[in-house]
Amino acid sequence: MPEIACRAHIETIYPVVEKALADAMLSLKDVDAVAVTCAPGLVGALLVGVSMAKSLALVAGKPLVGVDHIHGHIYANKLAFPDLAWPCVSLVVSGGHTSLYLSTSEIEHELLGSTTDDAAGEAFDKVAKILDLGFPGGPIIDGLSKGRDPKKVAFKRTVPETLDFSFSGIKTAVLYKVRGQNAKAPLTMSADERADVAAGFQEAVVDVLVEQALKACLRTRTWRLAVGGGVACNTRLREKLAARAAKEGVQCWFPPAKFCTDNAAMVAGLGYHLYKAGRVSGLDLDVVPTKAHKP
Ligand code: KG4
Ligand code: ZN
Repeated sequence: MPEIACRAHIETIYPVVEKALADAMLSLKDVDAVAVTCAPGLVGALLVGVSMAKSLALVAGKPLVGVDHIHGHIYANKLAFPDLAWPCVSLVVSGGHTSLYLSTSEIEHELLGSTTDDAAGEAFDKVAKILDLGFPGGPIIDGLSKGRDPKKVAFKRTVPETLDFSFSGIKTAVLYKVRGQNAKAPLTMSADERADVAAGFQEAVVDVLVEQALKACLRTRTWRLAVGGGVACNTRLREKLAARAAKEGVQCWFPPAKFCTDNAAMVAGLGYHLYKAGRVSGLDLDVVPTKAHKP
């Protein structure tokens, strides 16, 4: 799969860049800098993007700016809501990451806590697989849970005392609930029962995210909260977090759905701020598949 994804990047990157420039009615000479995701992600995919960006920067004589795309998920809020002010607590909930930061500007983010095992989006995807629902699991579980009683099938919440997260326990609890002691046993639940399990699972994950995000605000005495990443699309998370934040006097932002999942606009936007701050990269810019990138 990583190999297929990497090849697909090679096939599509050139036409995508050409189309982006054509749609914007710009040529390469009109841009100020070339921003590119260099961390974190699939190493092959990152390498394709970074190689393309280096070539463009070299050919056009433009500066190159390496961007940590997790910080881009935070910046997605600023794209949609220019009035978002700093400092704010940022909750990034994506397929590969679940982290809390104290953000003091577009480009400064101090890590407060993160998942010690599965990311929230990963848990949605794995649970959807256990329930034979398809991929990606997040939007499917979100849709199936609408109008369901989330208390019908309840799961234990793991809320660490720190600002970290842990979602592997709940994923295993769903597995046992659905398949019993034999993980390979065929699925015998009705569609209705599976939707109840999905709703109970989603509720537990959402409760933990809400709890930890508000705990981070109270501990850092920060009354702004910005959420980003694919799971920030989740209807129930939006409902519960907005309600709880309002109760605690915390102002809360969610980007529109198109800026929640991975997108190039957030990378370009954050790249602009890094460029303005002089945080540009050399042509020796390397990819960092797992860790954060410090420009
Ligand atoms: O941020 P993203 O596009 O990619 C990464 O950087 O990982 O996030 C993708 C993740 C997937 O795990 C997907 O299942 C989840 O976001 N997701 C959702 C929803 N929409 C996407 N999870 C819960 N509810 C949703 N509505
Ligand atoms: Zn992402």
